[in-house]
Amino acid sequence: MKAIEIRNKYLNFFKAHGHHVIPSAPLIPENDPSVLFTTAGMQPLVPYLLGEKHPEGTRLTDYQKCLRTNDIDEVGDNRHLTFFEMLGNWSLGDYFKEEAISMSYEFLTKELGIDPSKLSVTCFAGDEDAPRDDVAANAWQKAGISKERIYFYGKGDNWWIAGDEGPCGPDTEMFLDTGKPACGPDCQPSCNCGKYVEIWNNVFMEYYKTKDGNISKLKQQNVDTGLGLERMTMLLQGKETPFDTELFAPVMEKLKQLAKVEHIESRRIVAEHLRASMMVIADGGRPSNIDRGYVLRRLIRRMTRHLNKLQIDLNELEGLIDLYVDTLKGMYQELEEKRNIIKEVIVAEKDKFVKTLSHGEKEFDKVVAKAKLENKNVIDGYTIFKLYETYGFPPEITSDLAKEQGFKIDLSEFDKLFKEHQEKSRLGSEQKFKGGLAEQNEQTTKYHTATHLLHKALQIVLGEHAKQNGSNITTERLRFDFTHPEKMTPEQIKQVEDIVNEQIKRDLPVTCEEMTLEEAKASGAMGLFENKYGDKVKVYTIGDFSKEICGGPHVTHTGELGHFKIKKEESSSAGVRRIKAILE
Ligand code: ALA
Repeated sequence: MKAIEIRNKYLNFFKAHGHHVIPSAPLIPENDPSVLFTTAGMQPLVPYLLGEKHPEGTRLTDYQKCLRTNDIDEVGDNRHLTFFEMLGNWSLGDYFKEEAISMSYEFLTKELGIDPSKLSVTCFAGDEDAPRDDVAANAWQKAGISKERIYFYGKGDNWWIAGDEGPCGPDTEMFLDTGKPACGPDCQPSCNCGKYVEIWNNVFMEYYKTKDGNISKLKQQNVDTGLGLERMTMLLQGKETPFDTELFAPVMEKLKQLAKVEHIESRRIVAEHLRASMMVIADGGRPSNIDRGYVLRRLIRRMTRHLNKLQIDLNELEGLIDLYVDTLKGMYQELEEKRNIIKEVIVAEKDKFVKTLSHGEKEFDKVVAKAKLENKNVIDGYTIFKLYETYGFPPEITSDLAKEQGFKIDLSEFDKLFKEHQEKSRLGSEQKFKGGLAEQNEQTTKYHTATHLLHKALQIVLGEHAKQNGSNITTERLRFDFTHPEKMTPEQIKQVEDIVNEQIKRDLPVTCEEMTLEEAKASGAMGLFENKYGDKVKVYTIGDFSKEICGGPHVTHTGELGHFKIKKEESSSAGVRRIKAILE
């Protein structure tokens, strides 16, 4: 059974059971800046789950395009995807557990022809917020699932909420036994060994959780379900991975023909990220430095890196996009409609990335020259990490280049630093993106460099008294406090912006040297000298424009920054002004 047939069967089945078929909402949520992408079918329906009347009634069904990027680093294995399609049906205060479960059972066994003896289900075990879900368990038994294949788990497994606030409730999950051997006597659906694969989730949404953890009853009892299409397609076709289904196979095959080296993970990453990028672009997403645009940028860049790894000529991208459009247009007509813009956006972003890579390679060449001078044949982990952290130069490229030049690499130190770094950006991204994806570092790095340019430009326009008083950087903006007695005029603001943008246009190299504080002062570097630095300080030089003491990190060339814009100039405290600025 092909994916499109499964989708059609699903929608028709629920239509026959009184549901209205609604269209997929775009991947980019409308009027909802709080989330980056649509991550579940229920997301566009939240107001109706909370009680608002839906124009199409109380029983709905759809296929929903979803993007989840919290596991992006796992893509390449045999199961993870960022973009996927979720089939769903909803009761908005209409039917509840028994009817939902009976329909799920009927669909799986009758419509999809799944052998009931291969199904297991899990139900909520109960706690202080909600009772043990015997209603669901009994409904399963009544439908035809024998008692020993009904499991009870706590909130970790059988409670569902999108993010940390919203409608939620206990759920019941359906698992298919793949026939693989059990991992031990205690093998169960929850153990993740691969024997049991989750295929569908019914959430009984009758609660609302607030950010501070309060759980209260909603005015109505809802059902929210989600069935992952790619996974179901793979299972019904007896395939090992979604990449072996007709959704990906033509592109996977083409990549194999084009590649000069075989690397299955890289082929999967290219196939997966290319599809996801195309879907995001078709729904209006464009690469940028923040939020949604940054996720898209990351997908395209990672894909480009893996095309390089496969030694595939990057000019093949347009052909690959055409192949994908032809493969998927029966399911997503928007790909056909947006074919040209998809190509334009992806090719332009690829070109930008190639430029960044070539800057990184130059830095790498310096590292090699230094190692040769010192008669070393190993590139240490710290250096590899710095190339990654400071210049965004991917460690696997550093490794490849090092090997080509006859150097050994020491990855143990790198792994340690990299893990710490990932932990930090994960923490950052959890706070900021709620399960979205952030590479805090690359973005804040740009703002660091922009801050130096701004500092110098202010001194040029206002005078040398305009010294840094404070700085704060997030992934979205820079904030810079400086001493100046009065409000800046619009002309002065414009002049500062122009000077900064001029330096960006000049694509000045950014270099770093370590020296003592005395040497730094003598070199004319700007900086907060009263601050305690270590014995040695780092001095960052931006072409002929600025020299400043700073811990970094910085970009390699100002051309990477994009367009600089001052959003606000205001008073911070007596004699201190504050600027907020962004890079677009
Ligand atoms: N909203 C539920 C899920 O995403 C169905 O699993």
